[in-house]
Amino acid sequence: MGKDVIIACDFDSAEKTLAFLDRFEGKKPFVKIGMELFYAEGPSVVRAIKERGHKIFLDLKLHDIPNTVKKSMAVLSALDVDMVNLHASGTSRMMTAALEGLTRPDGTRPLLIAVTQLTSTDQETMERDLLIHAPIDEVVLHYAENAKNAGLDGVVCSPLEAGKVHARCGASFLTVTPGVRFADGDLGDQKRVMTPAEANRIGSDYIVVGRPITAAPDPVAAYERCVREFTGDAVSFL
Ligand code: C5P
Repeated sequence: MGKDVIIACDFDSAEKTLAFLDRFEGKKPFVKIGMELFYAEGPSVVRAIKERGHKIFLDLKLHDIPNTVKKSMAVLSALDVDMVNLHASGTSRMMTAALEGLTRPDGTRPLLIAVTQLTSTDQETMERDLLIHAPIDEVVLHYAENAKNAGLDGVVCSPLEAGKVHARCGASFLTVTPGVRFADGDLGDQKRVMTPAEANRIGSDYIVVGRPITAAPDPVAAYERCVREFTGDAVSFL
Protein backbone atom coordinates (compact mmCIF):
# COMPACT_ATOMS: atom_id res chain seq x y z
CA MET A 1 0.00 0.00 0.00
CA GLY A 2 1.35 3.43 -0.88
CA LYS A 3 1.49 6.61 1.13
CA ASP A 4 -1.90 8.15 1.86
CA VAL A 5 -3.68 10.90 3.79
CA ILE A 6 -6.32 9.64 6.25
CA ILE A 7 -8.98 12.18 7.26
CA ALA A 8 -9.87 11.97 10.98
CA CYS A 9 -13.69 12.24 10.87
CA ASP A 10 -14.06 13.40 14.46
CA PHE A 11 -17.79 14.13 14.23
CA ASP A 12 -20.40 13.06 16.78
CA SER A 13 -23.04 11.78 14.34
CA ALA A 14 -23.37 9.83 11.11
CA GLU A 15 -25.39 12.71 9.67
CA LYS A 16 -22.54 15.20 10.09
CA THR A 17 -19.96 12.70 8.84
CA LEU A 18 -21.90 11.78 5.70
CA ALA A 19 -22.69 15.46 5.00
CA PHE A 20 -18.95 16.18 5.27
CA LEU A 21 -18.09 13.31 2.90
CA ASP A 22 -20.81 14.48 0.45
CA ARG A 23 -18.68 17.55 -0.20
CA PHE A 24 -16.05 15.34 -1.81
CA GLU A 25 -18.53 14.39 -4.59
CA GLY A 26 -17.17 11.19 -6.29
CA LYS A 27 -13.80 11.41 -4.51
CA LYS A 28 -13.08 8.73 -1.94
CA PRO A 29 -10.56 9.75 0.71
CA PHE A 30 -9.34 7.23 3.31
CA VAL A 31 -11.20 8.09 6.55
CA LYS A 32 -10.59 7.42 10.23
CA ILE A 33 -13.58 6.62 12.45
CA GLY A 34 -12.84 7.01 16.14
CA MET A 35 -14.51 6.00 19.38
CA GLU A 36 -16.83 9.00 19.56
CA LEU A 37 -18.54 8.34 16.25
CA PHE A 38 -18.47 4.55 16.61
CA TYR A 39 -19.99 4.59 20.08
CA ALA A 40 -22.63 7.09 18.95
CA GLU A 41 -23.68 5.29 15.79
CA GLY A 42 -22.36 1.72 15.95
CA PRO A 43 -21.40 -0.50 13.01
CA SER A 44 -24.02 1.06 10.70
CA VAL A 45 -21.90 4.16 10.17
CA VAL A 46 -18.96 1.97 9.18
CA ARG A 47 -21.13 0.10 6.67
CA ALA A 48 -22.56 3.34 5.26
CA ILE A 49 -19.10 4.84 4.67
CA LYS A 50 -17.74 1.57 3.29
CA GLU A 51 -20.70 1.31 0.88
CA ARG A 52 -19.75 4.72 -0.47
CA GLY A 53 -16.36 3.26 -1.41
CA HIS A 54 -14.04 4.77 1.21
CA LYS A 55 -11.20 2.95 2.92
CA ILE A 56 -11.68 3.00 6.70
CA PHE A 57 -9.26 3.10 9.61
CA LEU A 58 -11.34 2.07 12.64
CA ASP A 59 -9.51 3.66 15.56
CA LEU A 60 -10.89 1.83 18.62
CA LYS A 61 -7.56 1.05 20.36
CA LEU A 62 -8.48 -2.35 21.79
CA HIS A 63 -6.87 -3.49 25.07
CA ASP A 64 -8.24 -6.52 26.96
CA ILE A 65 -7.42 -10.17 27.62
CA PRO A 66 -6.23 -12.01 24.47
CA ASN A 67 -9.40 -14.07 24.02
CA THR A 68 -11.70 -11.04 24.19
CA VAL A 69 -9.53 -9.05 21.79
CA LYS A 70 -9.37 -11.99 19.37
CA LYS A 71 -13.17 -12.35 19.24
CA SER A 72 -13.72 -8.59 18.99
CA MET A 73 -11.22 -8.32 16.14
CA ALA A 74 -13.13 -11.02 14.25
CA VAL A 75 -16.25 -8.84 14.51
CA LEU A 76 -14.39 -5.73 13.26
CA SER A 77 -12.82 -7.70 10.42
CA ALA A 78 -16.28 -8.79 9.25
CA LEU A 79 -17.13 -5.08 8.89
CA ASP A 80 -14.57 -5.07 6.06
CA VAL A 81 -12.54 -2.15 7.41
CA ASP A 82 -9.04 -1.58 6.04
CA MET A 83 -7.09 -0.73 9.20
CA VAL A 84 -7.69 -1.27 12.94
CA ASN A 85 -5.57 -0.73 16.05
CA LEU A 86 -4.86 -1.84 19.60
CA HIS A 87 -2.61 -0.89 22.51
CA ALA A 88 0.80 -2.58 22.35
CA SER A 89 0.82 -2.46 26.18
CA GLY A 90 -1.80 -5.24 26.06
CA THR A 91 1.23 -7.56 25.51
CA SER A 92 2.59 -9.64 22.65
CA ARG A 93 0.14 -12.45 23.38
CA MET A 94 -2.78 -10.07 23.02
CA MET A 95 -1.37 -8.81 19.71
CA THR A 96 -0.94 -12.34 18.35
CA ALA A 97 -4.49 -13.20 19.38
CA ALA A 98 -5.73 -10.02 17.69
CA LEU A 99 -4.10 -11.04 14.41
CA GLU A 100 -5.71 -14.47 14.59
CA GLY A 101 -9.13 -12.95 15.18
CA LEU A 102 -8.65 -10.44 12.38
CA THR A 103 -7.67 -12.95 9.70
CA ARG A 104 -10.68 -13.82 7.55
CA PRO A 105 -11.39 -17.37 6.31
CA ASP A 106 -9.89 -16.44 2.90
CA GLY A 107 -6.62 -15.34 4.57
CA THR A 108 -7.13 -11.60 4.03
CA ARG A 109 -7.30 -9.13 6.93
CA PRO A 110 -7.29 -5.40 7.67
CA LEU A 111 -3.92 -3.81 8.52
CA LEU A 112 -3.27 -4.02 12.27
CA ILE A 113 -1.48 -1.08 13.85
CA ALA A 114 -0.33 -0.69 17.47
CA VAL A 115 -0.51 2.37 19.69
CA THR A 116 2.75 2.56 21.66
CA GLN A 117 2.61 5.25 24.35
CA LEU A 118 -0.14 7.82 23.81
CA THR A 119 1.33 11.25 23.11
CA SER A 120 -0.76 12.53 26.04
CA THR A 121 1.56 10.48 28.32
CA ASP A 122 4.92 12.07 29.04
CA GLN A 123 7.97 10.72 30.86
CA GLU A 124 6.85 12.05 34.25
CA THR A 125 3.31 10.61 33.99
CA MET A 126 4.65 7.28 32.79
CA GLU A 127 6.96 7.04 35.80
CA ARG A 128 4.45 8.29 38.37
CA ASP A 129 1.25 6.60 37.18
CA LEU A 130 2.55 3.50 35.44
CA LEU A 131 5.82 2.90 37.33
CA ILE A 132 7.66 2.60 34.00
CA HIS A 133 11.13 4.08 34.45
CA ALA A 134 12.77 3.51 31.06
CA PRO A 135 13.20 6.57 28.80
CA ILE A 136 9.95 7.12 26.90
CA ASP A 137 11.69 6.91 23.48
CA GLU A 138 12.99 3.46 24.44
CA VAL A 139 9.51 2.38 25.63
CA VAL A 140 7.99 3.49 22.30
CA LEU A 141 10.64 1.63 20.29
CA HIS A 142 10.38 -1.48 22.47
CA TYR A 143 6.58 -1.59 22.04
CA ALA A 144 7.05 -1.07 18.29
CA GLU A 145 9.46 -4.00 18.19
CA ASN A 146 7.02 -6.18 20.15
CA ALA A 147 4.32 -5.27 17.62
CA LYS A 148 6.59 -6.16 14.72
CA ASN A 149 7.62 -9.47 16.30
CA ALA A 150 3.96 -10.33 16.88
CA GLY A 151 3.37 -9.85 13.13
CA LEU A 152 1.59 -6.48 13.19
CA ASP A 153 1.90 -4.09 10.27
CA GLY A 154 3.02 -0.92 12.02
CA VAL A 155 2.45 1.65 14.75
CA VAL A 156 0.71 4.94 15.35
CA CYS A 157 3.39 7.43 16.35
CA SER A 158 4.35 11.07 16.20
CA PRO A 159 5.96 12.03 12.87
CA LEU A 160 8.99 12.91 15.01
CA GLU A 161 9.32 9.23 15.95
CA ALA A 162 8.69 7.75 12.47
CA GLY A 163 12.37 7.74 11.45
CA LYS A 164 13.47 5.97 14.64
CA VAL A 165 10.69 3.38 14.30
CA HIS A 166 11.79 2.59 10.75
CA ALA A 167 15.43 2.39 11.84
CA ARG A 168 14.52 -0.14 14.55
CA CYS A 169 11.75 -2.11 12.81
CA GLY A 170 12.56 -1.78 9.10
CA ALA A 171 11.37 0.37 6.22
CA SER A 172 8.30 -1.76 5.49
CA PHE A 173 6.94 -1.50 9.06
CA LEU A 174 4.24 1.17 8.71
CA THR A 175 4.17 4.46 10.59
CA VAL A 176 0.77 6.15 10.88
CA THR A 177 1.25 9.67 12.15
CA PRO A 178 -1.16 12.32 13.49
CA GLY A 179 -0.01 15.80 14.56
CA VAL A 180 0.19 17.23 11.04
CA ARG A 181 -0.39 20.91 10.29
CA PHE A 182 0.02 23.15 7.25
CA ALA A 183 2.93 25.57 7.56
CA ASP A 184 0.46 28.49 7.65
CA GLY A 185 -2.21 26.70 9.76
CA ASP A 186 -3.46 26.75 13.37
CA LEU A 187 -1.80 24.33 15.79
CA GLY A 188 -5.02 23.80 17.80
CA ASP A 189 -4.12 21.63 20.82
CA GLN A 190 -1.32 19.77 19.01
CA LYS A 191 2.10 20.73 20.36
CA ARG A 192 4.70 18.89 18.32
CA VAL A 193 3.65 19.07 14.70
CA MET A 194 5.04 18.63 11.20
CA THR A 195 3.85 19.74 7.80
CA PRO A 196 2.72 17.04 5.33
CA ALA A 197 5.95 17.50 3.33
CA GLU A 198 8.11 17.12 6.46
CA ALA A 199 6.13 14.03 7.52
CA ASN A 200 6.83 12.57 4.08
CA ARG A 201 10.54 13.34 4.26
CA ILE A 202 10.90 11.76 7.68
CA GLY A 203 9.24 8.58 6.48
CA SER A 204 5.56 8.61 7.56
CA ASP A 205 3.56 6.11 5.54
CA TYR A 206 0.13 7.50 6.43
CA ILE A 207 -0.70 10.87 7.93
CA VAL A 208 -3.90 11.27 9.96
CA VAL A 209 -5.27 14.78 9.52
CA GLY A 210 -8.37 16.12 11.25
CA ARG A 211 -9.08 19.79 11.79
CA PRO A 212 -6.77 21.20 9.09
CA ILE A 213 -9.21 19.50 6.67
CA THR A 214 -12.50 19.15 8.59
CA ALA A 215 -12.50 22.75 9.86
CA ALA A 216 -11.19 24.32 6.65
CA PRO A 217 -13.49 26.68 4.73
CA ASP A 218 -12.98 24.40 1.73
CA PRO A 219 -12.25 20.88 3.07
CA VAL A 220 -11.82 19.37 -0.40
CA ALA A 221 -9.18 21.94 -1.35
CA ALA A 222 -7.45 21.41 2.02
CA TYR A 223 -7.46 17.64 1.48
CA GLU A 224 -6.05 18.01 -2.03
CA ARG A 225 -3.34 20.34 -0.74
CA CYS A 226 -2.48 17.83 1.96
CA VAL A 227 -2.19 14.94 -0.51
CA ARG A 228 -0.12 17.10 -2.86
CA GLU A 229 2.28 18.16 -0.11
CA PHE A 230 2.51 14.66 1.40
CA THR A 231 2.93 12.61 -1.77
CA GLY A 232 4.35 15.28 -4.02
CA ASP A 233 1.69 14.30 -6.56
CA ALA A 234 -1.37 15.94 -8.02
CA VAL A 235 -4.49 14.24 -6.61
CA SER A 236 -6.09 11.79 -8.96
CA PHE A 237 -9.26 9.99 -8.00
CA LEU A 238 -9.73 8.09 -11.25
O1 C5P B 1 -7.59 17.52 14.29
P1 C5P B 1 -6.26 16.81 14.36
O2 C5P B 1 -5.49 16.83 13.03
O3 C5P B 1 -5.41 17.25 15.52
O4 C5P B 1 -6.67 15.28 14.58
C1 C5P B 1 -5.73 14.28 14.77
C2 C5P B 1 -6.40 12.95 14.97
O5 C5P B 1 -5.42 12.00 15.34
C3 C5P B 1 -7.47 12.92 16.06
O6 C5P B 1 -8.47 11.96 15.67
C4 C5P B 1 -6.72 12.45 17.28
O7 C5P B 1 -7.53 11.78 18.20
C5 C5P B 1 -5.71 11.48 16.64
N1 C5P B 1 -4.50 11.27 17.43
C6 C5P B 1 -3.62 12.29 17.81
N2 C5P B 1 -2.50 12.02 18.54
C7 C5P B 1 -2.22 10.76 18.89
C8 C5P B 1 -3.09 9.72 18.53
C9 C5P B 1 -4.22 10.01 17.78
O8 C5P B 1 -3.86 13.44 17.47
N3 C5P B 1 -1.12 10.51 19.57
